[in-house]
Amino acid sequence: MTESLTNKIIMVTGASQGLGKAVAIALGAAKVNVVAIARHPKNLAATQDAVEAAGGRCLCVPFDLYDFDDYGKLFLALKDQIPHLDGLVHCGGSFDRCTPLQYVKLDKFREALDIHLTAPNMLTQIMLPLLRRSESASIVFTSCDMLEEDQNNWHAYGFAKRALGYAAAMWQGEHPDKPYRFNTLNPGRVRTDLFSRAFPGLMPDVVPLPEDATDAFLFLLSDASKELRGQSLHAKDLNTGENKPN
Ligand SMILES: NC(=O)c1ccc[n+]([C@@H]2O[C@H](COP(=O)([O-])OP(=O)(O)OC[C@H]3O[C@@H](n4cnc5c(N)ncnc54)[C@H](OP(=O)(O)O)[C@@H]3O)[C@@H](O)[C@H]2O)c1
Repeated sequence: MTESLTNKIIMVTGASQGLGKAVAIALGAAKVNVVAIARHPKNLAATQDAVEAAGGRCLCVPFDLYDFDDYGKLFLALKDQIPHLDGLVHCGGSFDRCTPLQYVKLDKFREALDIHLTAPNMLTQIMLPLLRRSESASIVFTSCDMLEEDQNNWHAYGFAKRALGYAAAMWQGEHPDKPYRFNTLNPGRVRTDLFSRAFPGLMPDVVPLPEDATDAFLFLLSDASKELRGQSLHAKDLNTGENKPN
C-alpha cells in the first residue's frame, strides 16, 4: 500500500522529535522525499540522517511556527526548491502543563491556540499553491480527542484539538471537487516529551511508542485512503495492517 507514496514529496511539521520524527522516518522507509520542519537544526539533522538511512530523502527547514509573519517567506523559499507537495502532516506542537481554566495565564492560553490551531491552518493556507500542483495531495491534522473522563484542565490545547476536526471538514467543504483532501487523525497516546509533560505521573512504558502510530499516518497519506475526505479519524479505527513498508 505504501507503493503509492514512492517519490512523493511530503512536508512534516514537528519532525525533529516525537511523533513527527517517527512519521518522517516511516515515510523515508516508503521512499518519500520529506520536507522536515521544526525549530532546532541539530535535531532536524538527526531526523535527516534517520530518514536517509531508512531509504528516503530529507530537506531540513528550521522554522518557528509561531513566526506567522514569516510564513510567506517560507513559501517563497520552498517554491523554488520543490515542484509540489503531495502531503502535509501537522505534528508540530508544544504543551506546557495541564492547568484548570480558572488559573491558566493568557500567554499560555494563546500559545496553545496558536501552535495547535492557528499554525496548522495558516501553514495549510500558505502551502496551498504547492499542494494544488500535486495530483492528489493529502493534508493530515493531528488531533487529540479529550475523552469525557479526561476532558478537564487542557485549556486552549483541548479547544484547539477538538476544533481541528471541524477545520478538516471546513477545508474539505470549501474544496469539494478538488483532488486534495483534508483529514484529522487522533494517534492515541504516544510516549513523547509532550506526553510526559501532560501526564508527569504516568509510567512511560505503558504508553505506546510514536513508531506504533505511524501506519495510520502513512495510510492517510497514501492512495489507499483516497475516499477519506474531511473526516475525523482515530488511528485505532483505521485498518492499516497492510501498510507497513517492506
Ligand atoms: N504524545 C501524545 O500522546 C499525543 C497524543 C495525541 C496528539 N498528539 C499530538 O501530536 C503532535 C506531536 O506531539 P509529540 O507528542 O510528538 O510532541 P513532542 O515530542 O514534544 O514534539 C513536538 C514537535 O513540535 C516541534 N515544535 C514545537 N514548537 C514548535 C514551533 N514553535 N515551531 C516549530 N516546531 C515546533 C518540536 O520541535 P522543535 O522543538 O525543534 O521546534 C517537535 O519536533 C502534537 O500536535 C500533539 O498535540 C500527541
